[in-house]
Amino acid sequence: MTDPAAFRTHFPAFADSVHLASCSQGALSDALTAELFEFQHTIREHGAPWDRWMVKIAEARALFARLIGAGEDDIAVVPSASEGAYQVASTQVWDERPGLVTTDLEFPSIAHNWLAQQGRGAEVRFVAHHDGLVDAEDYLAVIGPDTQLVSVPLVSYANGLRFPAREIVKLAKENGARTFVDAYQGLGVEPVDVTELGCDYLVSGSLKYLLGISGIAFLYVRPGLRDAVSPPLTGWFGRTNPFEFDPRNLEYPEHARRFESGTPSVPSAYGAVAGLTLLHRLDAHRVREHVEGLTGQLQQRLLEAGERLWSPLEDVRRGPLVAMFDRDPDALAAFLAERRIVCSARGDVLRMSFHYYNEDSDLDAVVRAIAEYRASH
Ligand SMILES: Cc1ncc(COP(=O)(O)O)c(C=O)c1O
Repeated sequence: MTDPAAFRTHFPAFADSVHLASCSQGALSDALTAELFEFQHTIREHGAPWDRWMVKIAEARALFARLIGAGEDDIAVVPSASEGAYQVASTQVWDERPGLVTTDLEFPSIAHNWLAQQGRGAEVRFVAHHDGLVDAEDYLAVIGPDTQLVSVPLVSYANGLRFPAREIVKLAKENGARTFVDAYQGLGVEPVDVTELGCDYLVSGSLKYLLGISGIAFLYVRPGLRDAVSPPLTGWFGRTNPFEFDPRNLEYPEHARRFESGTPSVPSAYGAVAGLTLLHRLDAHRVREHVEGLTGQLQQRLLEAGERLWSPLEDVRRGPLVAMFDRDPDALAAFLAERRIVCSARGDVLRMSFHYYNEDSDLDAVVRAIAEYRASH
């Protein structure tokens, strides 16, 4: 089993910088560099090797499926999480059950896709947070007998809150609703098994904790789930046989690929394979444990330094992200970037996020630099 120090050696940037921005873009691995080079090489060497590219896309799908305990046929390859949400939303009907439950801590573009369904009859209800926390009971108070879809982030992009997703999914199902989980801010660090989670749909993309690049995301669709409306956004990859090339035949497969549309980003599939292959060498529970230790220590040190945090103090409620309030998080992030410490500013907070490649020296560096910033501003 690879330990964190050995894993870190695959990420050359740590030689001269501190990467605490996996919530935004994972650090570049040697494997990712090699896969991206390989993609260029396939064009240089073979011209238009669609057969090789199809194999790479299938590999990315299979690796993602295995990561969440799903079958390959349960995964649609989509360009973004937003498009995954759209595919889910546009295939529901809202006539008898117009309720669509989401939360203020949802990533905006997911919530925006839910709001865009209002034109088709959806009634969107937001579960508010209290001091950055959301409990299953808060969802229960908003879910009703007319709820068609319940949407829950695994971890919030805003403050790192780890949602009680399993409980929320259970409550939603007891009320006859379908469930959508946005796993983007957790998967890669948080162990996920879709059978245990029990959700109908789950989406995640490649560039953050999955250690790939932008341009590819994956939509899990529970096998056997039927669409009320066939996916209106479609294309040749959404056919039973994409290589039939019959413009008159709009046959949708039963498996999740019915949600695919045009040519996926092939370089992104190479990138996804690089990241997912690295992750498959790790024990997901050890990754979570390692990251929980780092975020817990960082929070304690920041609190001791007098900082105010928005991320939850309780380990069990916190994903891989620490969110610290600041008057001007962009200025603070720029100050840190000058010292080659990569963090991510959003709204009122500076976000510092962790993966298996991070270690104590990263904590020391960021705590020291924040203290330096406070002393000079
Ligand atoms: C939780 C979450 N969902 C979705 C997204 C973005 O999804 P996409 O740009 O692939 O639509 C982000 C990006 O930061 C995110 O944090």
